[in-house]
Amino acid sequence: MKYIRIILGLFLALLMLCACTAPESMSDPASEPAQESVRIVVASDLHYLSQALTDNGPLFRRVVEHGDGKLMLDIEAITEAFIEQMISEHPDAVVLTGDLSFNGEVRSLADLAEKLGRLQEADVPVLVIPGNHDVRRSDAYCYSGDSYEPVPSARADDFHELYADFGPRQARSVDELSGSYVWDAAEGLRLLLLDTNSAAVNSFPSESLDWLEEELREAQEAGAQVICFSHQNLLIHNSMFVFGYQISNADAVIELLTRYGVLANMCGHMHIQHVLDGSVPEVLSSPLSLVPCRYGLLAWDNAGLTYEARSTDVSAWARRHGRTEEQLLDFDKYAEESFYQNCCRQISERYGAAELPEGALERMASCFADTNLAYFTGAAPERERLLTELDFWVSAAGESFETAYLRGILKDESPDPLYVKLR
Ligand SMILES: [Fe+2]
Repeated sequence: MKYIRIILGLFLALLMLCACTAPESMSDPASEPAQESVRIVVASDLHYLSQALTDNGPLFRRVVEHGDGKLMLDIEAITEAFIEQMISEHPDAVVLTGDLSFNGEVRSLADLAEKLGRLQEADVPVLVIPGNHDVRRSDAYCYSGDSYEPVPSARADDFHELYADFGPRQARSVDELSGSYVWDAAEGLRLLLLDTNSAAVNSFPSESLDWLEEELREAQEAGAQVICFSHQNLLIHNSMFVFGYQISNADAVIELLTRYGVLANMCGHMHIQHVLDGSVPEVLSSPLSLVPCRYGLLAWDNAGLTYEARSTDVSAWARRHGRTEEQLLDFDKYAEESFYQNCCRQISERYGAAELPEGALERMASCFADTNLAYFTGAAPERERLLTELDFWVSAAGESFETAYLRGILKDESPDPLYVKLR
């Protein structure tokens, strides 16, 4: 009798439970539980150089000092720190939007593929596309002491062979002509990686537009949303830098992305941290190889898509590995100072021989470095002070390319590029 009462009690409890649970078709979408976010990391322009190709000696130091501010002397530490941070944060995928190597050295690309393989072994898929520095370069060198010599540089085929397991082999579709592909990130989310460097530098081939449209139509019919990735930009982020920066055929690509409701495009190449709103918003990531070693975290769920800029903690990596170099232990400060000094050097070289009032060169260098640092890192510049300094610059040295460039940055009113709600 006791068992019959227990069974009856369980049966009644089950009936009540069923009565409280609405059938799926009657559920209110507004009260649906929040979907767990899909987390995609996007980073660009690592410019890794194999440590077998440099002794960080006098010539290479000069190359770096006269370069564009990339932290090439510490590229091994930055790369290792980023990979360890990704293993620890364990996003659903890491997308590298090109310029993986310094200047397309086969050895750099091969060594980096091995390092990125550790991320894949830790169950973090890595997806890549080539940048203009990864294929068909004529400046791939090995540096030793005061000399350098050419080393093999990658053709597009070499790149695709080395990186077949980093996206294309697992893709739902690959366009053989351009090297572009579509990758399933989650149910209802596809990543479209546009290769704008394999067929020709800075170009998405017209012949591949049919493939692109077919993929977008297919995604729409399947009810899937799409995030696009490219190396060069689709939109014009700075009117002084269009040729060589904006993808040729951008208008045709944007028209398709807009028509099929693509959520956003993520790119790199220009080395600034910048966002433009538009029919397809575009986020331009500053490089992993430049202060503050940025990457972005995309979070997608049924509430929308957000982008948050983050940075690689090189100092924490150095401490974990018992490194004692001062610049590694206080890396953010060192990296910022390096970039600042690089900007000052550019102004010294440009105006050092000009007849200027006393102290003018230092003020101009400081104005250029402060504005550029903000522009490249995505920080807000001190507009009022820098506009005053710019007026001083014009009175001391006249109008120039630099003053037009700085004025453009200070007038730029695009959204905050460090946190963006994309949809
Ligand atoms: Fe690039």
